[in-house]
Amino acid sequence: MRIPVIAANWKMHKTLSEAAQFVKEFLPQVAGLEGVDIAICPPFTALGAVGWALAEAKGRVGLGAQNMAKEAQGAFTGEVSGPMLKDVGCTYVILGHSERRSLFGESDELVGEKVRAAFGYDLIPILCVGETLAEREAGQTDSVIRRQLLAGTDQLSTAQVARAVIAYEPVWAIGTGKNCNPADAQATIEGIRGWVGDRFGAEAAKAVRIQYGGSVKPNNVSDYMAQPDIDGALVGGAALEAGSFAAICAGAVRKG
Ligand code: 13P
Repeated sequence: MRIPVIAANWKMHKTLSEAAQFVKEFLPQVAGLEGVDIAICPPFTALGAVGWALAEAKGRVGLGAQNMAKEAQGAFTGEVSGPMLKDVGCTYVILGHSERRSLFGESDELVGEKVRAAFGYDLIPILCVGETLAEREAGQTDSVIRRQLLAGTDQLSTAQVARAVIAYEPVWAIGTGKNCNPADAQATIEGIRGWVGDRFGAEAAKAVRIQYGGSVKPNNVSDYMAQPDIDGALVGGAALEAGSFAAICAGAVRKG
């Protein structure tokens, strides 16, 4: 059975002291929680401090970054590489978030290159896909997601896809409070799993963890987790407060 994974995407929030305070409050609240993998993805500046603070949790809460350069090192001012993320203690890296795609011009192909590079550095990519409102209204949801998946998983092995995390984040649901209806999210995510099966085989489809993201809150996470193909959540706003993120993690444990 797939273990759900709940990841906090802090985006461009929290100073060092705010990050440390969060971890201090958060860890005791999830101390006894079994059956869910948890990751915190702070901004680059707080990775070291959060990583240190999480060491107390002995690997139960993983560290992730929100972006990564595809190159390992060199003259790339302002960029951070996979080996650097590994060095600071990251297990995960979010790639292809819609904000990276829309605000920073990241193409499907670049996201695919970064995903491949992440595996090369032994990082688990959280590959984000999702349609805009205009694309959804034009009936293009499936074609947009297939295009993003095709480029995002380009040249990966079956074993790599099986280890990856995919996050389905409809752009119109991000930060808007207008979360996607859980049945609709399930239908799209079932389609993503089907696509993985056609391209990489049944084993990969069975193993790959697919999250939903977009206005996930403590009061709606269990509605997503009740869906057979949804394996957790990528959480923005509601992951900024320790109690709220802990409640989401607790709500993600599968019943029965
Ligand atoms: P919100 O949870 O704030 O809608 O953000 C979702 C998101 O973008 C996570 O990556």
